[in-house]
Amino acid sequence: MRNIARVDQRGSARCAILSLQPSNCRTLMDDSPPPANAAPKTRILAISGSLRAESVNTALLRHATSTAPSDIDVALSACIGDLPLFNPDLEAADPAPVRILREQIIAADALLIASPEYAHGVTGALKNALDWMVGNESFVHKPVALLNAGPRASHAQAALREIVRTMSARIVEPACQSIEGSLVVRRGMVVDRLAADATLQAILRALQAAVRAGPADDPP
Ligand SMILES: Cc1cc2nc3c(=O)[nH]c(=O)nc-3n(C[C@H](O)[C@H](O)[C@H](O)COP(=O)(O)O)c2cc1C
Repeated sequence: MRNIARVDQRGSARCAILSLQPSNCRTLMDDSPPPANAAPKTRILAISGSLRAESVNTALLRHATSTAPSDIDVALSACIGDLPLFNPDLEAADPAPVRILREQIIAADALLIASPEYAHGVTGALKNALDWMVGNESFVHKPVALLNAGPRASHAQAALREIVRTMSARIVEPACQSIEGSLVVRRGMVVDRLAADATLQAILRALQAAVRAGPADDPP
């Protein structure tokens, strides 16, 4: 129990500072009233599978938060490094970082996930986060885009697809795109904005279209 309490305190403080929680998302977004008959903004939660400070994947997702079209809000979750290692025995305790991540996912209309490949698999940090979400409904029917920043690393993408599909999410195929991350990002900063913007805008628009079309548009 002492361990759980320690994780809760550390996790909730860190998540509150670094992440865009559902309530914080709204305060960071444009609060001006939308024009009459305007479609509601599409809320997309971005999740990076890398914990590296200069991560290519995280840099691309961060870039999406600042360059998204005005009718799309992208928030970058910063919680997965704070999650305890998944253990079914801890699920009833609902550690704070787990609760925050779950609420972020539920509050989002769609998810954008980008993960490096480690030893032909998804990173441990991302798999751990996904394992925490298996036991709740947060992924069910959620439209998901997979961004592959290392197009030659195909194993992790295939594994991620299988995991996300198993969690009953909707993989939005037109929103699953690749970009040569090592050419576009340097030292954690996007340096080829044209290439990054083109790919990210295509992903965001495809996700938005899937959200607006609703589940009936899904392929069988
Ligand atoms: C432990 C480890 C294992 C890796 N395994 C693979 C691999 O199997 N295939 C691959 O293409 N790249 C592999 N890489 C390279 C990373 O996928 C690559 O550096 C990626 O850009 C890192 O993403 P990030 O910049 O978002 O952290 C590995 C890197 C590390 C640190």
